[in-house]
Amino acid sequence: MITAIQKENILEAPFVKEMREATFNLWKLGWDERNGGNISYLLQEEEVSRYLDVNQVKRTLPLQFPVAELANKYFIVTGSGKYFKNVKGDPKNTLGIVKVDESGNNIYVLWGFEDGSNPTSELPSHFMSHIARLKVDANHRIIMHNHATNIIAMTFMHDLDEASFTKTLWQMCTECIVVFPDAIGILPWMVPGTEAIGQKTADKMKAHRLVLWPHHGIFGAGTTMDETFGLIETAEKAAQIYTIIGDSSKIKQTISDKELDALAKAFHVEPKAGILTI
Ligand code: 13P
Ligand code: ZN
Repeated sequence: MITAIQKENILEAPFVKEMREATFNLWKLGWDERNGGNISYLLQEEEVSRYLDVNQVKRTLPLQFPVAELANKYFIVTGSGKYFKNVKGDPKNTLGIVKVDESGNNIYVLWGFEDGSNPTSELPSHFMSHIARLKVDANHRIIMHNHATNIIAMTFMHDLDEASFTKTLWQMCTECIVVFPDAIGILPWMVPGTEAIGQKTADKMKAHRLVLWPHHGIFGAGTTMDETFGLIETAEKAAQIYTIIGDSSKIKQTISDKELDALAKAFHVEPKAGILTI
């Protein structure tokens, strides 16, 4: 007698729990007002198949942009228009598990989005960034976008040159250069949700795990939810200090380039070239 293998409860899956916790914490921090922000998390087939029959496709959604590099890959992703505050209590309508098909032209919805909703409108930026990060980091898994308040504020007050913006952040908190020695990439202002912003974001992701969208928000990339959250948290904290200071003429002293260099050496990180003047 053939018996179907019993699947475990998807709501108990660690990756679903992580998505529920992260979205709630991000909302509590005020960085994901209304439906602001989105997260996508690359999953292994073995992780998903403990909970789902991966051949049971609920819906097929065409992609406007081909992602052949992600063929047959699985993601859990936040839904478009979904409020982060509600994900914790309503995961099956606000989250979805999708698989990119063998051609990279469609995605299969395997679980979630039960009310007929769709993945985030920022899917081009997420998928293209995953492709870019996987090329430089085999352990890469998470792309997170949110509207971190002070980092947005800083894009009005600070010039948008990547080197000088990064150096200001590095100077605001001692830990910054250690957490993001690869510096912050900055795009010009662009219309969100488009393939064009996805392409530009992914171009920056080749060299940076943080990419700033002026007057909009930030994208972070990482190998775990904690690491990605922590990366954005660290940049946001530095930006908060910058905005609390408010007027750079008030600054009486800061961390010098020589001290930043000593920090980097002590923590064995390589600061992006061209930012420090030693
Ligand atoms: P979604 O609701 O489509 O994820 O969009 C939110 C957002 O932050 C757009 O940049
Ligand atoms: Zn946004």
